[in-house]
Amino acid sequence: MRKFVIFLLLFSVVSLSFSDDADARRKRRSRRAKKQKIINEKKLYERVGGEKGVALIVDEWLRISLADQRIAPAFAKVTEQPERLAKMRKGMNDQLCEIADGPCQYKGKDMVKAHAGLNVSDDQFLIFSEGLFKSMDKRDLPEREKNEMLARLGELRAEVVDGEASGE
Ligand code: HEM
Repeated sequence: MRKFVIFLLLFSVVSLSFSDDADARRKRRSRRAKKQKIINEKKLYERVGGEKGVALIVDEWLRISLADQRIAPAFAKVTEQPERLAKMRKGMNDQLCEIADGPCQYKGKDMVKAHAGLNVSDDQFLIFSEGLFKSMDKRDLPEREKNEMLARLGELRAEVVDGEASGE
């Protein structure tokens, strides 16, 4: 009889601790699901700070790119002409806003035509993309948002890199 009582006690302690674990796991799962839902419901545009956030990212992205001697020479003509630079900044802003599912629509020059004759290489494209990453990093954006934005920018590669769009 004593053995049976001890067994019963042990059984209830073990099953209690198991149900506790299951409960905690269920709560953790539900918290994660809620968090996931919030992230999924928000557009990337909102997650990077909306209109203001995108403008700040673009400002720094452009600053980094124009200061990077590996690609700065490619922008020489643009930096010499303020109105051309302003047009490019606005275009980059609208592009970034659009790919992040924001309310903008890029209405500038067709991207293939805008980069035609510039002979943009894969390396230049990577360096330019790196500038965007650094800019977002400076704003302490989470890895998830930085990677998502970079992946979306990558989709524009074929329109920018020489020969890609025409399939050469
Ligand atoms: C996905 C990456 C890129 C995006 C989103 C982008 C975006 C733009 C936009 C919006 C413009 C202005 C087009 C217009 O005139 O309305 C532009 C122009 C230009 N881009 Fe890009 N660009 C990218 C990659 C690059 C790279 C890698 C380079 C060179 C390293 C480059 C060099 C230039 C230059 C020199 C112009 C000025 C063309 C001109 O005014 O004649 N771009 N770019």
